[in-house]
Amino acid sequence: MDRVAARRAAGAKVISLCAGEPDFDTPEHVREAGISAIRAGHTRYTQVAGLRSLREAVAAKFERENGLTVDWRDTVVANGGKQVIFNALAATLNEGDEVIVPAPYWVSYPEIVQLCGGKTVVVPCDADSGFKLSPQALQAAITPRTRWLILNSPSNPTGAVYSRAELRALAEVLLAHPQVLVLSDDIYEHLIFDGAAFHTMAQVEPRLGDRTLTMNGVSKAYAMTGWRIGFGTGPGWLIEAMEKLQGQQTSGPCSISQHAALAALTGPRDFIQRSRTVFQSRRDTMVEMLNQAPGMRCEVPQGAFYAFASCEGLIGKITPAGMRLESDEDVVNALLDEAGVAAVHGSAFGLGPYIRIAYALDDHSLKQASAAIRAFCQALSD
Ligand SMILES: Cc1ncc(COP(=O)(O)O)c(C=O)c1O
Repeated sequence: MDRVAARRAAGAKVISLCAGEPDFDTPEHVREAGISAIRAGHTRYTQVAGLRSLREAVAAKFERENGLTVDWRDTVVANGGKQVIFNALAATLNEGDEVIVPAPYWVSYPEIVQLCGGKTVVVPCDADSGFKLSPQALQAAITPRTRWLILNSPSNPTGAVYSRAELRALAEVLLAHPQVLVLSDDIYEHLIFDGAAFHTMAQVEPRLGDRTLTMNGVSKAYAMTGWRIGFGTGPGWLIEAMEKLQGQQTSGPCSISQHAALAALTGPRDFIQRSRTVFQSRRDTMVEMLNQAPGMRCEVPQGAFYAFASCEGLIGKITPAGMRLESDEDVVNALLDEAGVAAVHGSAFGLGPYIRIAYALDDHSLKQASAAIRAFCQALSD
């Protein structure tokens, strides 16, 4: 993002396919709820774990959308899903504890694990496995020091979605290892396509409920990334520990944002359906055009707003500016410099040679970016 800003400042035209957020505005009624909260004077500290009304709405959301029976006291609201993850790991990891992270992964997981004194155990999941963790690979990665498994479905960066059967198979392995907690990062829950159903571990295997943290938030579902509201539910001892930590760290999240999130969770939900339809159509456009670019190959992702395309066919080629493409990082650098398109290299997410393309952008820009990628690929020489 910094390099995009620098190139734009230098007068270059750049289409950025890097964004990790929807390009829509927060729904009108949610923005109004924020404004009303300010006018009503809801501008003071709230309870550390969030307003009771919001925690009740969070519990109701987990019940309505995920089939979980949740007491509002077993929920916590934090400054984004990211803080939920951070607090969970900070509250539970001892030096050297292991956290299993299937790759490709969201870049923040290993960094948070490291900050909390843990050791990330990366389990590579390639295209043949749909970028998903298999029960065999999970079994092989578990040791007596394993404290957490992090699952993210739909996935950033691949858009992969775990089916109920796939989660069940992972649950079978986990049931035999009671020391392992499960962090289910469900932040892209509502961005799921082709009529596929969303499943989360605590629902699929209730016997794992007392060691699963189900994390979600309003960032992606309601286009509210800047409001910074995430939430989670899990066993009481864990939620209590996370709340304690939050109390000495940031206190409760922004009071105004909490009122806006309450409006999002309790108000009309047609926005979710609309954004899903728009993203699905953009996905189709993007994947089709990517597959027309010589040397690129992209499977159809089932969720989120990312396409994870193999650029293996570009490696070893030479760009018109004379750069030899040795890695996916070279590919994204050359795409930025020579085609005016910004994407992120797959190896940043733990699997190369790929590029991640975020299609949270209007159709016209997406088509322009796809055409520029195709022209870039066509102009490469051996
Ligand atoms: C997989 C994943 N989890 C969590 C988050 C954090 O979201 P939030 O804005 O709620 O902190 C992101 C944001 O990019 C994400 O991609």
